[in-house]
Order: sequence, then C-alpha cells, then structure tokens
Amino acid sequence: RAKGEMKDFLHISDFDKATIMKILDKAAEVKALLKSGDRSFVPFKGKTMAMIFAKPSMRTRVSFETGFFLLGGHAIYLGPDDIQMGKREETRDVARVLSGYNDIIMARVFAHQDILDLAKFATVPVVNGLTDYNHPCQIMADALTIIEHVGQLEGTKVVYVGDGNNIVHSWLLLAAVVPFHFVCACPKGFEPDKKTVEKAQQAGISKIEITNDPKEAVKDADVVYTDVWASMGQKEEAAYRHQVFQGFQVDEALMKIAGPKAYFMHCLPAERGVEVTDGVVEAPNSIVFPQAENRVHAQNAIMLHLLGV
Ligand code: CP
Ligand code: NVA
Repeated sequence: RAKGEMKDFLHISDFDKATIMKILDKAAEVKALLKSGDRSFVPFKGKTMAMIFAKPSMRTRVSFETGFFLLGGHAIYLGPDDIQMGKREETRDVARVLSGYNDIIMARVFAHQDILDLAKFATVPVVNGLTDYNHPCQIMADALTIIEHVGQLEGTKVVYVGDGNNIVHSWLLLAAVVPFHFVCACPKGFEPDKKTVEKAQQAGISKIEITNDPKEAVKDADVVYTDVWASMGQKEEAAYRHQVFQGFQVDEALMKIAGPKAYFMHCLPAERGVEVTDGVVEAPNSIVFPQAENRVHAQNAIMLHLLGV
C-alpha cells in the first residue's frame, strides 16, 4: 500500500505529510462543527468499534468512545480482564473474530508486536491506542493543540524533558514526516530508541536533538513537554527512576529559562511534584486540558480517514 493508503493507524510515519496535514485539518473542521452544537454529521452511523485495553486508561477510552458516538457510531469497551488477548486467546484469532463483528478496532497493549499482529490479521482498520513503543493518537492531538495555540506546527520548537519513552517515539516519527524542531532532554541511559532516532534524523525533514541537559534544551522553546518518569508496566521502577531523574523536573525555574512564549504540555496522567510541579500544570500557559480534549477530534479525524467516510 502507498503511504496515505494504509489500512491501519499504527505509526505516524506510515503516512506522508499531505495525509497527516489533511487529518489535522479535518480534526479542526469536525471539532468546530461539534463545538457549534451541530450533531447532524453522523458518518459512523451503523458502524461499531471494538476497543481493546490491556492497560488502564481514562483519556483514550473516554475520548474514543465519546468521539465515535458523537459521529453516530457505537463503541465497545473490552477491559484487561475481558478478552485477555494473547493469553485467553491468540491475537490472530481475536483479530479475525472482531473483524467479523466490527468496522474498526482500537487497541492499547503492552508489546508493540501485539498491535502489529492484530493489524496483520484483522481485515478492518486497527488504531494504536498506545503500546510500550509509541502513542500516535496522542501526538496527533498534540499537533492539533500546537496548531491552535502556536499557530502552526512547522518550524515550532518542541522540547520534551524526561523519559525517552513511547511519547518521544511518536514525536520522533511525526518529525520524520512534518518539519519542526524536536529536542529530547533525558537522563543518560533513558534516551529514546536509537533506531527511531536514526529513522527520524535520516528522513532529513526536521531538526532533531537528543541531549542530557534540560536547561540548555528548553531555551527559546515554543512548547515544553513532559510525561511520567515511570510508564505503565514500569511502576516497580518508580523509586529508582525518581533518583535518576533528579534535575529533569519541569518546574517554574525551567519554564523561566524556556522563556515567555513557551507553553507547557503533558499527555497526562501527571504526577504533580514528580516530573512536573503543581504550579507549572496550573499556570496560564499550561495547555494540558485543551490538549486532552483534542484527543476526541484528532482520533475522529484519523477514523474518518481510515474508514473513508
Ligand atoms: N494520555 C493518555 O493516553 O491517557 P490515558 O492513559 O488516560 O488514556
Ligand atoms: N508514557 C506513559 C503515557 C501514558 C499516556 C505510559 O506509557 O504510561
């Protein structure tokens, strides 16, 4: 399949720039319609979505379920104990059974290979709702939020401070497609996946820097972004990480170095007092709640693209 015609939404870099920008434009358009109170646009009418969650969630579950419903569809929540993909039943069987019932599948899993397997065997589109490797729907919502607040994504300086995790991988894969300036400042040993960094750098689209110096990194940022130090599945490492990540907290002093134009973003859930201070989350330039809200609109646009409606 050509880029832009992928069956699934698994990595932002599976799509070309034109398709990503088209999806973001559509997100803004449908957002405006829904915000106006208009409920006449129901392209998902008669369609159903299976949502598989191997991990906890608030935003992903509620934004997908609400968004799909608002455009006329019906979404089915399958929690960690329900189908136990790969344990109670093989992933390739789950994929084919759900494809017989549903028009689209969304899944949040641990191993990235699980979503690849699901997509391979499903005959309907599969949307990645986070894996240990990446979180593309989040970064599409973040891009929409940056366009709304900064004015455009192209040329924007986004500085991520913290763990080189799934969120960073999706930022890098976006940077492989759309030009902006992405900096990841993380402790030594917690850098993002080397192959993903290389892929983004070799694409030659964006300026990409990986550093261990948060103070230098944030200078002149348009956006300072962070995420938890211990992701889902790493919570037993939390105490150790807390030690190693000292100096990487986004606090008022770091935001001051970033400068007056810097917005603060966080995919949430946040641990206030750990990776970010309460004051930074609550500051006027914090856009974490518009960012969370935009999950609905970015995902609706992704699903409209995949379903071709
Ligand atoms: N940001 C995000 O994906 O949140 P949830 O884990 O609550 O879905
Ligand atoms: N890095 C976090 C993101 C949560 C939305 C995690 O994987 O737990």
